[in-house]
Amino acid sequence: MDAAKKWGFAVTLIFIMFAVLRLTLLVLRDPNESWKLMDTVLGVLGIVDSDESSGGYKIDKEDLSVSLNLTSCHSSYGRPDLLVYCCPPRSIAEEPVIDFQFPGPSTPLRIRRPAHRVGRGFIAKYKKALLIMKSLPYSDPRSFRHQADMHCIFCTGAYDQPHSHRPLDIHRKWFFFPWHRMLLHFHERIIGSLIGDDTFALPFWNWDSPDGMAMPEWYMHSPFFDNQRDVSHFPPKVSDLNYDYEKTDENMENKERMHLNMVFMYSQMVSGAKKPELFMGCPYKNSEEGVCDGPGTIESAPHNTIHTWVGSNFNVMREDMGAFYSAARDPSFYAHHSNLDRLWEVWKQIHKVDLQTFDPDWLNSSFYFHDENSQLVRIKVRDVLDTKKLRYVYEEVDLPWLNTRPKPYSIPSKIANHALKIRENRTILSAELGPGGRNLESSITVKVGRSKFNRRKQEKDEEEEILVVHGIAVRIDEYVKFDVYINVVDESKIKPGFREFAGTFVHIPHGKMDDDRRTNLKFGISEVLEDLEADRDESIWVTLLPMTKSCTNTTIDGIRIEYMR
Ligand code: C2O
Repeated sequence: MDAAKKWGFAVTLIFIMFAVLRLTLLVLRDPNESWKLMDTVLGVLGIVDSDESSGGYKIDKEDLSVSLNLTSCHSSYGRPDLLVYCCPPRSIAEEPVIDFQFPGPSTPLRIRRPAHRVGRGFIAKYKKALLIMKSLPYSDPRSFRHQADMHCIFCTGAYDQPHSHRPLDIHRKWFFFPWHRMLLHFHERIIGSLIGDDTFALPFWNWDSPDGMAMPEWYMHSPFFDNQRDVSHFPPKVSDLNYDYEKTDENMENKERMHLNMVFMYSQMVSGAKKPELFMGCPYKNSEEGVCDGPGTIESAPHNTIHTWVGSNFNVMREDMGAFYSAARDPSFYAHHSNLDRLWEVWKQIHKVDLQTFDPDWLNSSFYFHDENSQLVRIKVRDVLDTKKLRYVYEEVDLPWLNTRPKPYSIPSKIANHALKIRENRTILSAELGPGGRNLESSITVKVGRSKFNRRKQEKDEEEEILVVHGIAVRIDEYVKFDVYINVVDESKIKPGFREFAGTFVHIPHGKMDDDRRTNLKFGISEVLEDLEADRDESIWVTLLPMTKSCTNTTIDGIRIEYMR
């Protein structure tokens, strides 16, 4: 080898060594980054097409729908101290997949009925099916435990979001309603097939109606019973739809509790939820930056609150129902969600919403379930928007809360508004609560400006005024609840049954997820402001009232008003 060749060889060798060292350091620091770099290097060398490789997924900017890679399910945290593995067996990736097909029009229509009104015959059938389901081996996707784990997968972040590598949680975003509908649909079909009854329909726990508010009595017997429940909430105890287990008055008269529940339902279904984002939570965007995290009105409560109300007070996170990783092990979970699914239908009718026209990223997002033949099926959000096409409907029941529009606290609005004006001259707080947010260990009252205070009726109908509590950070393993009020004169006297109540935030404890995730809470307030005669004011007073001790570990970035078409 002559001198020039030797030099060339040495330089190449040094270059290669340097590149290897650099890559090693990157791998140690951030495995994700290094893969991208590696792909770029390989891309330059023409070994892979580097545009296509970003952490192993092809990112097509035009299509950001969720479609899972079935092999990527991993262990996750049910509680911060509990690592769980809820994933299907790895062999699932080799199973043939079919796309969901609507059942033919001659398939019998399944009618879901209120659980407190079904007869003995129905209960006997369901009992038989559930016993079979519970006796199937875990490896059978139709087994009860496997069904329960499906829920665990999608609430503990066992899959990552395809385009962002953040854990996927179907709660607190637009997947909340369609995903649970899918789960219930397949669950119901499996039950039907186990007893050879095509007409079998899950019952719904009609907690929004006075006669249905207690847990249905037959859920106290095997196999519907779950011994991980709060004994003090056994039937005939009337449920508290706005439950916080620290301040709730457990001895309240049934009549008063029922009334409060009705008024509360009105806020959550009608006045607070006039736009899709308010009812269904954060519209899902599957982007690199996209952390979409914000519960809809009804998801905060009664959804989260009933979970907590049912779960056992002896368990750290009120398991089973009180924590999502374990919730679906309690058979009442399915009746609870059947009611939520029904209320989604009811809400669509009240507010005349056509979901078929929504964002295609959401409509085309797909999930995998095993059907009654243990066949793996890929089903899209757009497939589940019409229950009749899935061949089920809900028996029509009264909606007693439709007419329970709350009244303002007894002070006449004029006097109240005057008292607030006087306060205004004394203290003015900014609705941006400062860097790092403000702690909610005691109540926070701020004045919030409104940019549109002279709107005509028609404008108000088209554009809903929204109260946004933004940048809510909670400790992930705690149950957190705070209530939001408008124009309250004396916060020691105010209660959720009054018109001043605008909404509530409820967080169910989780294991580890994104530690930095911050939530936004939104609800409609046009109607509240009208009823409080505050809709001509340039600003309003907003009070956040902590309902749980965990609010000490909760911070809020700020409060603002937006307008939503
Ligand atoms: Cu996925 Cu009621 O929770």
